[in-house]
Amino acid sequence: MCGIIGYIGEKKVSDVLVKGLSRLEYRGYDSAGIAVLNEDGISVFKEAGKLSQLKQMIHGVELTGHLGIAHTRWATHGEPSQRNAHPHTDCTETVAIVHNGIIENHEEIRASLIRQGHEFRSDTDSEVIAHLIEEYHVKKGMSLVQAVRVMLGQLEGSYALCAISQKDLNQFVAARNGSPLVVGVGRGENLVASDAPALLDHTRHVIFLDDHQMAVIKRDSVEIFDQHGKPVKHEVHRIDWDADEASKQGYDHFMLKEIEEQADMVERILRTRLRGELSEHLFDVLKFDQSEFNNVERIVIQGCGTSWHAALIGKFLFEALAGLPTEVDVSSEFRYRHLVYQPNTLVLSITQSGETIDTLMGVRRGKSQTYKTVSICNVLGSTIARESDGVIYTQAGPEIGVASTKAYLAQMTILILLSLYFGKTRNKISGSIYDEFVSELRTIPSKLKQVIQEKEKIREIALKYYEARDFLFLSRGINYPNAHEGALKIKEIGYIHATGHPAGEMKHGPIALIDEKMPVVCIAVRSSVYEKMISNIREVKARHGKVIAIATEGDSSIKSIVDDCVYIPACSEFLSPLLVAVPLQYLAYYVSVLRGNDVDQPRNLAKSVTVE
Ligand code: M6R
Repeated sequence: MCGIIGYIGEKKVSDVLVKGLSRLEYRGYDSAGIAVLNEDGISVFKEAGKLSQLKQMIHGVELTGHLGIAHTRWATHGEPSQRNAHPHTDCTETVAIVHNGIIENHEEIRASLIRQGHEFRSDTDSEVIAHLIEEYHVKKGMSLVQAVRVMLGQLEGSYALCAISQKDLNQFVAARNGSPLVVGVGRGENLVASDAPALLDHTRHVIFLDDHQMAVIKRDSVEIFDQHGKPVKHEVHRIDWDADEASKQGYDHFMLKEIEEQADMVERILRTRLRGELSEHLFDVLKFDQSEFNNVERIVIQGCGTSWHAALIGKFLFEALAGLPTEVDVSSEFRYRHLVYQPNTLVLSITQSGETIDTLMGVRRGKSQTYKTVSICNVLGSTIARESDGVIYTQAGPEIGVASTKAYLAQMTILILLSLYFGKTRNKISGSIYDEFVSELRTIPSKLKQVIQEKEKIREIALKYYEARDFLFLSRGINYPNAHEGALKIKEIGYIHATGHPAGEMKHGPIALIDEKMPVVCIAVRSSVYEKMISNIREVKARHGKVIAIATEGDSSIKSIVDDCVYIPACSEFLSPLLVAVPLQYLAYYVSVLRGNDVDQPRNLAKSVTVE
């Protein structure tokens, strides 16, 4: 969590940094700050709260200089306040740093530095970095590069950091271990940021730093070194995302834009993956023989939050379409639980950001069992993508809203394709059934567009219920994970208590919650469990609950037993989760807007969860 950026070049550095921070604000928004270096020294501006506060602070200030660093914070050590905002400086204000990560041995280092006479001005773990550099660079006269290298040797924990020094106007230093950092290679300018969207206004050419690497960034050069100071060869990647994709493009919120681009996105994914034999276009990275993949006998899927919900849907797909035993675990449990070894197990990790720490640890846990690890990931070059043995990129484009929407649909699309692939290679589905699925899949983008037409209806429903204190979400079968997803969306952006349940579990407890004030969203699309779901709806109505149904077009009978109804086009049960998710996203969106919440940056959350 937290976003950092560093820049050196011809452009006005404060503008570059503030624009870059606006692209990174999804990573944390407790405070923001910049440090600009010029011949007069380092000017630091930082403020608690969102980036808009910092912008107000520097409005009208003439900030000259062409080298600077900046930070947007998600608080871990020390409350969100101006005092704890980055950049942090050393006692002599010669050095300024920004840091993303957690320095685990900061207390020990801090105590030792205090004994040596250093004065600390924040409660953060990060400030020790500035004072350690001071020790070596200012007091002992080492160059900034040397001082950072020696300092890094003392840190335990995770970091992505940038450091500048008043004694060196021509370069800055960046380093990573466990937190992401991308170098943007420009012409007469170079940058570093936590994530590629912050670089795209300036360049599409990037270098993904690896753990224990350090970059020395000058106006006309980028040098990468390992922890021993040995130069490292690096590959320059080209990013296909457009800077515009990471902007709102006239929408009120990123979340709304991201919901509404889902139809085109699914169409794009299908076009790429189904442009010939699926087997040829399935993987973007595969570091082992595909035959080993085909011989898998068990899948363990792990992920967090919305990605975990996609994993739960994956289980239904793999078991039903490919006959593959599948377990699903929340990554924070998977990484610690006792694992019973079974040969030919594949660990499939699902993650939008590719940086979620629990999911990353799950990948490492899988590897430690000698399992092959494949990730379904959105962010190119992210840590999980690089550490997995195989990668299927979801190609959803940058997802900026903290509430995941399009990444979820992209993950489900890939899971459907994967289950069809396994179904075919394992002879569990015939060629004609496969073809039928594929041709129906191709109709999903236009069906998604139809669901988007229902948004006004969903806004009216939101108007009726946005003041509710609680929400329940019920479903069965392959759509039961969507009940969890609907509840998560209402919680995270609506700030309303909500739970999702398999509808059959209602009478084992949750039914006690139902009264005339309780909105209950019931996913009752045509499927093998439709009749059972209708019985559950009747049970809710018998207790005077308010039922909002998501049903299949043409199901006119359901209308008479529920309070409100949103229709999705008819489709195969296995593909229906893609369509069902959209009304749930809109419902949460409108509830959040009506409650006056910050839709894209809900309180206490951050987009990439890189702490445990
Ligand atoms: O980047 P990841 O997919 O690994 O993130 C997992 C969760 O943190 C994420 O889905 C989170 O739950 C979202 N806020 C849900 O909308």
